[in-house]
Amino acid sequence: MAREALGRIDGDEELYRRLLPHCRLQPGEIWTDPVCGHRVGVLDATSAEDTARLLAGRLSYLGIHDPPYNLRVGNRKSTQLSATQLQDYLSFSRFWITSAAAVLERDAHFYVWLGADQRNGFQPLPDFMLVMREFPELESRSFITMRNQRGYGTQKNWMAVRQELLYYTKGSPEFQVVFTAIPRVLRGYYKMVNGKRTANTERHRSPTIRPGNVWLDLQQVFYRLEENVPGAYAQKPLSAIRRILTASRPGSTTPGEPEPIVTDFFSHAGTTLLACEIEGVPCYTMDIDPVFAELTIRRLEHYRKHGKTGWQWHSPFPEITPG
Ligand SMILES: C[S@@+](CC[C@H](N)C(=O)[O-])C[C@H]1O[C@@H](n2cnc3c(N)ncnc32)[C@H](O)[C@@H]1O
Repeated sequence: MAREALGRIDGDEELYRRLLPHCRLQPGEIWTDPVCGHRVGVLDATSAEDTARLLAGRLSYLGIHDPPYNLRVGNRKSTQLSATQLQDYLSFSRFWITSAAAVLERDAHFYVWLGADQRNGFQPLPDFMLVMREFPELESRSFITMRNQRGYGTQKNWMAVRQELLYYTKGSPEFQVVFTAIPRVLRGYYKMVNGKRTANTERHRSPTIRPGNVWLDLQQVFYRLEENVPGAYAQKPLSAIRRILTASRPGSTTPGEPEPIVTDFFSHAGTTLLACEIEGVPCYTMDIDPVFAELTIRRLEHYRKHGKTGWQWHSPFPEITPG
């Protein structure tokens, strides 16, 4: 059976130490893509100064952020957030939301991926939602749930297969209707049109259904998929980000105006950046960790060179022998 050529980077200090010399960016540095103008920084999302440097005077029409739920507290990794650590997490959230909101255009979309720990009062989801109310310029729009295929807790509880995605808007950005690949097969919702009784399947232009706010149709990433990035532990499916990009695409742009840009302050495996490359939009992204910033840039380069969206189970750092 094939195995991933690189284990989880975050939990392996020895592997991490060996990868660092192969990272082109030092903390504080920013890489600008010479081809499509994407930007990748090793920066801190909670720092208004760092985020302003990344944006270089530009504003973003779409923020897609996937913060960690397992934050570092005092340079330690905490797997169990206690009540006080939850307060730390919320203060971390306030800082990054402030910097992320500051770089939004007058009319903009704002998405945040989040989780709820069912073994710990469902934190941080409800607490985070309350923090979001402190930002009145960001109006709540949708509470999306994406289904993961692999879950946990099947014996004594309902299997946990949810991944939450919060959608807010600033001002009134354009929203494009998108469709899934799921065929519109169920007849019903009969209505009289011009004296004739019609079913919903006859009245709609699309033969497939809309995703709504429960996304059941997107494949979670695992090591057999081409888009898999070995070493990254929190990768989102490209299809999910592409759906967001399509739904948020501005209908018209003013000639002479700079191209609208997407922001993602927690890049990790570079999924948002790669989805932007595929959809033809510049992405300004960062990760506090040089290894994940390097993975992000390598993923873009790998896609341009080989047309592949990831490494499947092969290593993104072939210069490191597994050990
Ligand atoms: C949940 S992952 C993002 C996954 C990403 N959406 C993907 O599909 O690959 C969170 C990332 O945030 C990074 N991170 C944590 N704290 C940060 C901070 N203060 N500023 C920027 N990045 C940070 C972590 O290193 C990690 O790579």
